[in-house]
Amino acid sequence: MAGQIPQRFIDDLLARVDVVEVVGERVKLKKAGRNYSGLCPFHQEKSPSFTVSADKQFYHCFGCGAHGNALRFLMEYDKLRFPEAVEQLAGRLGLEVPREGADDPRAQARERKRKAGVNLLELSASYFRERLKMPEAQGARAYLEGRGLAPEVIDTFAIGYASAGWEHLKRHLGERGIGEAVQVEYGLLVQREESGRTYDRFRDRVMFPIRDIKGRTIGFGGRVLGDAKPKYLNSPETPVFHKGRELYGLYEARQADHRLERVVIVEGYMDVVALAQFGIRNAVATLGTATTEEHLSRLFRLVNEVVFCFDGDRAGRQAARRALETVLPLMIDGRQARFLFLPEGEDPDTLVRREGAEAFQDRITCASPLSEFLFDQAAAGRDLARLEERERYASQVLKAIGRLPEGVLRSLMLSELSRRTGVEAANFSALLAKAEGAPGAGAPSGVGQQNREAGRPREAPPGPGEARGAATGRTGALGLAARALQLLVHEPALVEGLPEEDDWCPEEDPDGALCREVIRLLRAGGYRSPQVLLAHFHGTPEGERLAALARRELLIPRTARRAELEGLVGHFRRHRRRRSPQEEIDALLARERAGERLSREEKQRLMALITELHR
Ligand code: GTP
Ligand code: MN
Repeated sequence: MAGQIPQRFIDDLLARVDVVEVVGERVKLKKAGRNYSGLCPFHQEKSPSFTVSADKQFYHCFGCGAHGNALRFLMEYDKLRFPEAVEQLAGRLGLEVPREGADDPRAQARERKRKAGVNLLELSASYFRERLKMPEAQGARAYLEGRGLAPEVIDTFAIGYASAGWEHLKRHLGERGIGEAVQVEYGLLVQREESGRTYDRFRDRVMFPIRDIKGRTIGFGGRVLGDAKPKYLNSPETPVFHKGRELYGLYEARQADHRLERVVIVEGYMDVVALAQFGIRNAVATLGTATTEEHLSRLFRLVNEVVFCFDGDRAGRQAARRALETVLPLMIDGRQARFLFLPEGEDPDTLVRREGAEAFQDRITCASPLSEFLFDQAAAGRDLARLEERERYASQVLKAIGRLPEGVLRSLMLSELSRRTGVEAANFSALLAKAEGAPGAGAPSGVGQQNREAGRPREAPPGPGEARGAATGRTGALGLAARALQLLVHEPALVEGLPEEDDWCPEEDPDGALCREVIRLLRAGGYRSPQVLLAHFHGTPEGERLAALARRELLIPRTARRAELEGLVGHFRRHRRRRSPQEEIDALLARERAGERLSREEKQRLMALITELHR
């Protein structure tokens, strides 16, 4: 642990951030006079009793009494510890959090040591970079070139070369007054047990510096130039380097885009670098370990969406199942996790070279959402026409749902499970509640048994043919504006193909009006995930409408969706009537009567229309 954070810094920080902004990113707020109000995120409610005051920089819930400032909110909502919340707020402003240790000499010593270590690693990194330019590194340069890396990417990732001698780095650092002990401690030298002799850990290897989020070198990965073993050598665990926490490429990804929204998690150093070479600059890699919860919770503080990328083989599937387990408890509203499987025998590096950046980007865009992967996973190898198999299927899914935090995703998954199994959602909820209530039960075990009693399927789930028949009927009942809305809810990315002007939306139709709002939101918020969209409207009548549309299947292939939406836009445009002023007035008044708050422009428009009509 570093030293205390000075109170003065915390006061400054709170003076500079806006609680309305911090809360508003997580809770839908409406302006109400001088304050903002919304549904309280800390307890279940139907009408808003949660207010945020910009003047006082405070939030308060009249329902459950939750209250506090921006820091308290982050601690409660994002489940952060105090220093983490401070870090996060400071990060928004690009500030580094100072630590004081005046009253704790040990903390001070630790901090001095950490600085010395970082300094030592920094020196080593620049040494390796210089070596790469020397004649002795000809082989290394040829190797990198052979793998298709341009000088710019080598530069961006600060890739270097450790020459072949046993004491090159040791001597270089020694000349700069750095003792051997600290070089050993930070993993640059290896010390023989018997003789105590030390020598360079990295020899004749291409060197990938691993940097922390602030860009400080904390360790290295070194690759042999040929096929020798071990292929990669990593820094050992040191005071600043912990494999289960750090991600290769995260700093570089953030440098490439400070407003990073999504990261792709790949397996290897070379995958990260090769993707960057092709302009896909948001990939990160674990350091030869499985993705840990710590990796993910760190990532989710920076981005809302994580795409896991796996080989298509058995090992890849296995790794994906592990990643799914790890990510489930972290899936609070607004976060998204998706799963991408590559063709067998390919890794991102080979694939992006073979098919190019655009095709790879498409794979990322089309990666399975967590929900889809989870259902597929549970269905794999099961004959769902059989009752017992269906029960096992339901219990496996339910177990996973039980590990999700409360929220929209969890309820969407429950209703989806109920749709797929024909068991009423209420039965599942009861099972979950029971399992959670049981002492020491995190995930419900033996749900299969309970399921047998509590939730007998009412009917066999529809086969593919039947599903189509039944649901097409329902689609038929859907209005055209609703259909446009439904397409957008299922696939928010379709917004990108829509015309700039949204005047084609028939706004006298409530679905049309909602469609406009959704489009505006998708554009402004940059959301491309159905879950985030639903989360945004959560708890409102619009939210219920959207959720209902999301639950209905689209029943057309992904590739046909854009065309259908374009067709709808064309239809609305052709059939748009110029509305008379009276009709427009009526529409606005109707919305106001329905309790909707008109925007300032709309109010002005209304006044203008009325004046015009009575002139
Ligand atoms: P290339 O073979 O150069 O394309 O590298 P890669 O990054 O594609 O490696 P690969 O897919 O074989 O392995 C993925 C990751 O696992 C690497 O980036 C390393 O982090 C780790 N890894 C692979 N081989 C070794 C090894 O021999 N030792 C250690 N410690 N880690 C390894
Ligand atoms: Mn590879």
